[in-house]
Amino acid sequence: MSASLSCFNQKCSRRFPITEVLYNCPDCGGLLEAVYDDVLDTAALKTEFRRRRMDNSPLNQSGVWRYREMFPFLDDYANVVTLREGNTPLLDAPKAASYAGMDKIVFKHQGFNPTGSFKDNGMTCGAAQARRLGMTRVACVSTGNTSASMAAYASAGGLQPIIFIPHGNISYGKLAQALEYGARTLQIEANFDQILALVRVLAERLGIYLLNSVNPFRIEGQKSIAIEMMDQRDWAPPDWIVLPGGNLGNVSAFGKALREMVAAGFIAKSPKLAVIQAGGSAPFYDYMTVRGKHDFRAVGHPETLATAIKIGDPVSWPKAQFEIEAAGGVVESVTEQEIADAKAQIGLAGIGCEPASAASLAGLKKLVKAGVIGPDADVVGILTGSVLKDPDYIYRYHTGTLEGPDGVAIRPTYGNAPTVLPNDIDAITRLLS
Ligand code: F0G
Repeated sequence: MSASLSCFNQKCSRRFPITEVLYNCPDCGGLLEAVYDDVLDTAALKTEFRRRRMDNSPLNQSGVWRYREMFPFLDDYANVVTLREGNTPLLDAPKAASYAGMDKIVFKHQGFNPTGSFKDNGMTCGAAQARRLGMTRVACVSTGNTSASMAAYASAGGLQPIIFIPHGNISYGKLAQALEYGARTLQIEANFDQILALVRVLAERLGIYLLNSVNPFRIEGQKSIAIEMMDQRDWAPPDWIVLPGGNLGNVSAFGKALREMVAAGFIAKSPKLAVIQAGGSAPFYDYMTVRGKHDFRAVGHPETLATAIKIGDPVSWPKAQFEIEAAGGVVESVTEQEIADAKAQIGLAGIGCEPASAASLAGLKKLVKAGVIGPDADVVGILTGSVLKDPDYIYRYHTGTLEGPDGVAIRPTYGNAPTVLPNDIDAITRLLS
């Protein structure tokens, strides 16, 4: 095995042992990534990945660890904590496709994960590395999904989870998960970006292992979303992958996975990446699309009802920029109304997702309208979280009581309010006739 950590800053590229507890390069402050010198036998691995789907061992039943040769950073798989993450389906959604002006769309639904979001793909790797390093406590700041996932994997793996969340700014579904999975839960009166700065200092001071997406092993695990997608498509890449962007860890993971799959010959070419941000929390869109890659500026007070992506200072933006340039791609932003309506359409396709996930379809619709993505393109949209993550938002949308962060009412364009009736069979018959 020949894994090491490498500084992502191309001018530095300093390497460190894979077992060093580092989140940034001590020399230049750059982001870190795991790199490997192994040469892969691509044809043999394709066969082996397929064989493992029929195998009952926990490691092979995991839709992450099944692909472990693509991220060989562990020396002992006894450290793995698996809840059988990954294994998420590709779902056809013809109604959502016509909503976006497309012939066809397929969603890869990460909400089918054990804790209901894509974070499980990365967390299983982060938790394994924590155990390998002999850590006892793990921490993260989160808009809700990372904390739910970390709480579950830490508790399953005998680690103590400590989570920091922006008070009043995460959905109850996600907060409830963290409590149920036994996390020490601290609600801080600050926003995500402010708390991340705080937690980084605390982790160092108290010797707690940090499991935010600055942790390079989380990124390694999230690569499996793209790898599994290609395996499910018999290694035929789509034209585009569309996904929401918050802290920008996920697009960084997708880009790394695509580059590595092209380099090893798993796929012939890389799909392009379209990252969608919520308009009130769109620093990366502003930087990449509006200001032409000049002067990255954080958003001081990010706002959006899609609380999962309510992030103004995304740590992984240099990686995200690199990957979008390597794969080709665009960054788009969408309004609260566009997210809400797209979300209802995903629901009407019988699929459903949480608000942040719906940014994928809302952004795709915009990009098709602008002619950036052709109506006949082969597109996979990533639905990052389950419909059950934020029921309060859904009820308000359908009953016409949802308000944007600016207090402006969101129209229930596809509203489906429940009807209250007396216990009167004739009244019910009249209504349904
Ligand atoms: N979608 C959902 C449902 C999320 O929870 C997140 C991020 C994203 C999209 C954006 O992904 O940050 O990799 O660009 N949630 C984090 C959290 C920040 O704390 O749960 P990203």
